[in-house]
This record gives sequence, C-alpha cells and structure tokens, in this order.
Amino acid sequence: MKKFLAGIFVALGSLVIGALVVNFTGMAPVAATGKDPAVVEWFLHSSYERAVEKNAAVVSVPANLASGDNILKGAKNFAAMCAGCHTAPGSNATATSKGLNPPPPVASELAGELSAAERFWVIKNGVKMTGMPAFGPAHDNESDLWALVAFTEKLPTLNAASYQQMVKLGKAAFPESDGHAHSHMGEASQSNDQPTQAHDDAGHGSDAAKKSKNEGHSAMEKQAESNHTPDAEEHGGVGHHEPKGAKAVDPKNPPPKSADDDHSGHSH
Ligand code: HEC
Repeated sequence: MKKFLAGIFVALGSLVIGALVVNFTGMAPVAATGKDPAVVEWFLHSSYERAVEKNAAVVSVPANLASGDNILKGAKNFAAMCAGCHTAPGSNATATSKGLNPPPPVASELAGELSAAERFWVIKNGVKMTGMPAFGPAHDNESDLWALVAFTEKLPTLNAASYQQMVKLGKAAFPESDGHAHSHMGEASQSNDQPTQAHDDAGHGSDAAKKSKNEGHSAMEKQAESNHTPDAEEHGGVGHHEPKGAKAVDPKNPPPKSADDDHSGHSH
C-alpha cells in the first residue's frame, strides 16, 4: 500500500514538474495554428457542451423570440458584431474566421447544435480560450442578445441577397445604436450607416469628425457597399471556410480596412 501511494506521489510530482518545465521554457504550444490531439479536442468540446447545457438550464426563452422586430434587430447586430468571425450567408471566410482555433461555426450552422437558451448563454457569456467573446458585458439590455438568438435561427434560410436585404431593413428599422456607446467589429472603417451613433473610438465622437461626417460618411458607405457586394456574390454555397476564391476579392477593395474584416489575400 505504501509503495502504491509513493508511486502515485511520484507520478503526480513528475506531472507537476513537467508542466512547470513546459511553462518556464516557453515550450507550451500556444499558437492558434497548432492542432490539438483528438483526445484533447474531445475533452475540451465535451466539457464545453456539458457546461453550456448545465448553465442554460435556468435560462427562460422569451415568448416573442421569433418576432419580426427581433429578427431585424438581430440581422443588423449580427452583421456588425458576428459576421467577421461566423461569416455571412453566401460570403467567403474572413481573415479572422480562417485563423481561429477552434474554428467558429459558419453562419448557417450557428443554430444547429444548441437550443435557444444555450445559444443565449453562449452569446452572453462567451467561451473562454476560443475567441468567442462574451457580449453580456457590453449589452445591459438582454433583449439585444435575444434578437441575435432569433436571427441565428433565420440564418440557414438566407442567401447572400436575402441576408443583405434583411440587414438593410434592420438598419432602417433600428437606426439608433443598440443602446450603448461602443463600436462594433469593423465599424470604425466600414459598414456603418448610422451617422448619429455614439462611438467611443476612431474619432467618431470628436467634434472634427462630426463636422466632416457628411462627406466622410457617404464615402465610407460607398466603400462599405462595394466591399460587401463582391464578397456576397463570390460563391453561392454556404460551405465551410476554405480559402477558395478568397484571394480574388481584395484587389478591388484596398485598405483602409480594419484587421478583422474580410480582406484575405492582401499582404499584412
Ligand atoms: C472573434 C470571433 C467571434 C465573434 C466576433 C463571435 N463569435 Fe461566436 N464563436 C466564435 C468561436 C471561435 C466559436 C466556437 C467556440 C467553441 O468551439 O467552443 C463561437 C461559437 C458561437 C456559438 C456556439 C455555437 C455552437 O454550436 O456551439 C454561438 C451561438 C455564437 N458563437 C454566436 C455568436 C454571435 C451571435 C456573435 C455576435 C454577437 C458571435 N458569435 C461573435 C467566435 C466568434
């Protein structure tokens, strides 16, 4: 018995020492390009699934989830906050979506595995060490998050054109910001149709920016539109985020664009 306990002690001690060596020597495999062994992937993903299921058990889904307003608001906010990672119907992988590990589900698959309550929990709380941000801290109003949940259910039924149309309608129906002063992914350099929206960066809030906003903004809108159209038409299928066709996009859409937008193909 003593020998057995000593054996366990030595084994645990070796593990701790091994972990410390990996830590101190900088040998830990932290690159996002590295693939985890299958068993690690399984362990992490099943831990995630169980944790989400447990946490979402107390979340109750609002009765009006699938209302037209919710879907339109969700469309607008999805385009602003999510498409950079989860892509949009009919569009290519983005520079960000290609580089994330684990890979983000593409738009049409976002509602495939999780219930509405589970999706709400993930959107509100994020997923540690995956790139999926918590949107709760920036959105006091939970109805904004539910709108996103509603829209994820609509996504599989949309193609490039109907998606763009829905985002447009969403922007028209909800011209104001979603009740907070922060910029969304990529808004600082493109796709912002809300000149009065309060932004906290990129100089939008400054007086100088306000004075020049009329000229500056319409130019930006044009750029945003020309950025979107070729992407949307690039290929019809939803597919996964393989690099196919992506390289052809950029020559037409030179920078300035933010690092998180769809600009695969240009040199950094
Ligand atoms: C910076 C990149 C990034 C952004 C922005 C982002 N996500 Fe994610 N999201 C991810 C990644 C990566 C995962 C996969 C996490 C995993 O495998 O555990 C994920 C997972 C999810 C899931 C869970 C899917 C599943 O089947 O497990 C949902 C739902 C989701 N995201 C919705 C959204 C919504 C809605 C937005 C916008 C408000 C958003 N995400 C913005 C990267 C992102």
